[in-house]
Amino acid sequence: MSIRHYLQFSDLSADEYAYLFSRAALIKAKFKAYERHHPLADRTLAMIFEKASTRTRVSFEAGMYQLGGSVVHLTTGDSQLGRAEPIEDSAKVISRMVDLVMIRTYGQEKIERFAEHSRVPVINGLTNEFHPCQILADIFTYIEHRGSIAGKTVAWVGDGNNMANTWLQAADLLGFTVHVSTPGGYEVDQSIAGVRASSSYKVFKDPMDACRGADLVTTDVWTSMGYEAENEARKKAFADWCVDTEMMKVAKPDALFMHCLPAHRGEEVEADVIDGPQSVVWDEAENRMHVQKALMEYLLLGRL
Ligand code: CP
Ligand code: NVA
Repeated sequence: MSIRHYLQFSDLSADEYAYLFSRAALIKAKFKAYERHHPLADRTLAMIFEKASTRTRVSFEAGMYQLGGSVVHLTTGDSQLGRAEPIEDSAKVISRMVDLVMIRTYGQEKIERFAEHSRVPVINGLTNEFHPCQILADIFTYIEHRGSIAGKTVAWVGDGNNMANTWLQAADLLGFTVHVSTPGGYEVDQSIAGVRASSSYKVFKDPMDACRGADLVTTDVWTSMGYEAENEARKKAFADWCVDTEMMKVAKPDALFMHCLPAHRGEEVEADVIDGPQSVVWDEAENRMHVQKALMEYLLLGRL
């Protein structure tokens, strides 16, 4: 099998996602039953973090051990990556020693250059442009709670960031619609998302209008990692893009609320929403591990 990377959501087909979602359900059930599942025995995952993380680190590390493998954890501060060793050289060296690489970094072009020179599959653990593992977990979580996401409406309230770009790609591929509402100047850049069908997303000025009739309401921090210098300006610009109980009321009565976390209660979401009955954020976080186990297994072994 030729090397498959997972650098953005559009790297896999709808058919492959259907397989991954069913495989993740099986892997999760085995985990809950304390049943051993070691398809990646003797395999090693290198995790490279150039930005902070809680969920991505724990879910990949615990997940890889649960699959029978092991992990190597690298950061910019404790490796030669922070001392300007070319990314191409790092890719050639690291990929001769491990079976799989997960990278969290800044520009998407960095992970693409790494993948180009890697002998093993590379997974995007978040870049400025995309966060495919998170949307994989979010859609799996939606399916667990409500069934297929095809034909449904997802309201995105907030920044036109890596999460928004990835939702757009997923909608295009899996046949649902994203209602996007961002403050002026923070719109989603359609050329980054690279979506084929513009019918899979609609832009709304007012976040209330984006939420009207939605099956899922979701948001993210106002200031993503790497954009901290813009924090004060963003706090002003995003003040009306806080998901509150009024927005949840105009969504469908059984609408879910998701947030990739970490969250700032009182900024992008009210505490009553994220800690309320429609919120599935803890399932969403846990599911990162189950879907990524299915993904790692698939990239290394194909369909089992
Ligand atoms: N959602 C997410 O990727 O969380 P971390 O930044 O903690 O990894
Ligand atoms: N958009 C956020 C997601 C964090 C998981 C960021 O990039 O910081």
